[in-house]
Amino acid sequence: MARIGLLGGTGPEGKGLALRFAAIGEEVWIGSRQKERAEEVAGKLREKLRIANIDASLGAAENREVAEWCEVAVLTFPFEGVDTLLPPLRAPLAGKIVMDTINPMEMREGVFHLLDVSQGSAGQRVQELLPDSQVVACFKNSSAKELMDLRAALHGDILLCGDFPEANAWVAALVRRIPELRPVDAGGLANSHHLESITTLLMNLNRKYKALTSVQILGLPGHW
Ligand SMILES: NC(=O)c1ccc[n+]([C@@H]2O[C@H](COP(=O)([O-])OP(=O)(O)OC[C@H]3O[C@@H](n4cnc5c(N)ncnc54)[C@H](OP(=O)(O)O)[C@@H]3O)[C@@H](O)[C@H]2O)c1
Repeated sequence: MARIGLLGGTGPEGKGLALRFAAIGEEVWIGSRQKERAEEVAGKLREKLRIANIDASLGAAENREVAEWCEVAVLTFPFEGVDTLLPPLRAPLAGKIVMDTINPMEMREGVFHLLDVSQGSAGQRVQELLPDSQVVACFKNSSAKELMDLRAALHGDILLCGDFPEANAWVAALVRRIPELRPVDAGGLANSHHLESITTLLMNLNRKYKALTSVQILGLPGHW
């Protein structure tokens, strides 16, 4: 069991991942810029887990306290928060795996567009701001709506990438423990741009077809 902290965990993506990680027995804390908000959300998630008959450990604190407490951090806040939230957390997150779910995108004239990030991607920007951490881009293509519904089986692949093979392997092992999900290691963090781009495509497909799309890679050998 690992101590997993969700920074900006009060939104849909953070809540969905918190539920899924807590459901497989991980110790999870929800982080927020306001402790009270984190506590309120954690209380609701605990209730959801109780109703689903899942015995889970789920706490809450302000983001900095979560960064200090956790062994693995998950970034689940919007791209615009990256430059302010992360620099003060460099020391508490040093030496830790940081799972980055952030998609830098905006809606213009009814279409989702990827933002131009000078480092190449949100993942690379995060790694630049947290040079002492091991950033793994992952869960960028996972719909919060699907994650939040504990009765719904998840399906598809979790594409992940990062420059630290051991960190990639740790995240892949975590993904494998979530029923039905398959991790696919997509290489170095430079590929994070492609993951973020796929999310933009999925969001536009969801909008066009009023659907909830996800990703599955065909043609891979049984093991990678
Ligand atoms: N939603 C999805 O289906 C989905 C799927 C895949 C990936 N993602 C990624 O996951 C991230 C979170 O998505 P979401 O839909 O959960 O977003 P969200 O609801 O807009 O934001 C999540 C939380 O981030 C905190 N936050 C908001 N603006 C911030 C800022 N400027 N600086 C620091 N913290 C801020 C807020 O928490 P407090 O006010 O409590 O601090 C908020 O509740 C995004 O980067 C998104 O691209 C989302």
